[in-house]
Amino acid sequence: MKLQISKTSQTRISEFDFDNLEFGRIFSDHMLEMVYNNGAWQSAEIKPYGPITFEPSMMALHYGQAVFEGMKAYYANDDTINLFRPHDHHQRLNNSARRLCMPEIEESLFIEALEELMRLDHTWVPKKHGQALYIRPVMFATEEYLAAKVSEEYKFLIITSPVGAYYSEGFNPVKLTTSENYVRAVKGGTGEAKAAGNYGGSFLPARNAQKKGYTQVLWLDANEHKYVEEVGTMNIFFLIGDKLITPKLSGTVLPGITRRSVIALAKEWSVDVEERKISIDEVFEADSNGTLKEVFGAGTAAVISPVGLIHHQGQTLTLDQEKVGPFAKKMFDTITGIQYGKLKDTHGWVHPVNVRSSVLQ
Ligand SMILES: Cc1ncc(COP(=O)(O)O)c(C=O)c1O
Repeated sequence: MKLQISKTSQTRISEFDFDNLEFGRIFSDHMLEMVYNNGAWQSAEIKPYGPITFEPSMMALHYGQAVFEGMKAYYANDDTINLFRPHDHHQRLNNSARRLCMPEIEESLFIEALEELMRLDHTWVPKKHGQALYIRPVMFATEEYLAAKVSEEYKFLIITSPVGAYYSEGFNPVKLTTSENYVRAVKGGTGEAKAAGNYGGSFLPARNAQKKGYTQVLWLDANEHKYVEEVGTMNIFFLIGDKLITPKLSGTVLPGITRRSVIALAKEWSVDVEERKISIDEVFEADSNGTLKEVFGAGTAAVISPVGLIHHQGQTLTLDQEKVGPFAKKMFDTITGIQYGKLKDTHGWVHPVNVRSSVLQ
């Protein structure tokens, strides 16, 4: 299928203040729109960002057949924008789509569309270290029908949003609490897919946690309510003694791309990495016997997010709240260094897009 391109006649960029970017509030000039019906993707068009129309009977609204991705592009220099691990995000998108009986997207088209969006909207990629262009691919069921069944029609969009530095005022450790009454995912459910409904279902427990002064919920497993799974939009890591431990991917945890990067780098640094079940009791025990050195989350938004406090059933453990631990800091500096093209990318994680021809236009 050929990617069609309709450029905007007028950029909106001057309307926005790039020194005060809020996450996910403003959107760049162009978006991708693909339409699926009659058993195939029919069209793929990059067009000006703007409203889409649909009928109230659109199935995604009723049955939640919707999946998405979250990735970032980084300004390397005036000629180059770096996409971070786009092939991995594409693979996860298709895995999520399969779980919800939705059609897959061809890899070459996904990459071509991203490259084209970067060329058209490269001025929207903010230039300061820490800032980035957040990329949100989303697919949803568009058939107009109230039967509770698999939709025959879909839309796939990619929209992009310039975002500010997560840590413009230094690291901000998060406070986590387990939830006594709620779980995020069950074995055999949709936890390992990036399904829209997973997030909707987590908002009530997250709001309850926030009312009590915690930043996010630290999810435990649904069966025994004992083993740590992940945090709102991050995977979780514990540095205990000289071992880096993270919950194993066993169907209920989102397979984070940042998680995969952290594991690969830690192994390269000869750190013993264990992907296994880790109980909340083990974490508290490690804290009491002095072996719990660092806890941090890993995800696209913050890259690395130090954890300053964990609350579980009336017990609270605190880590150094003032700053990020040395291991997490080294991990943050290395991953962001690779993303912005300041450190050598020996893993093939960075997909540089040459935007020079568009600069000259
Ligand atoms: C539930 C959940 N876990 C973990 C992550 C981290 O994944 P990634 O590193 O691919 O952003 C995310 C963010 O996408 C998420 O939504």
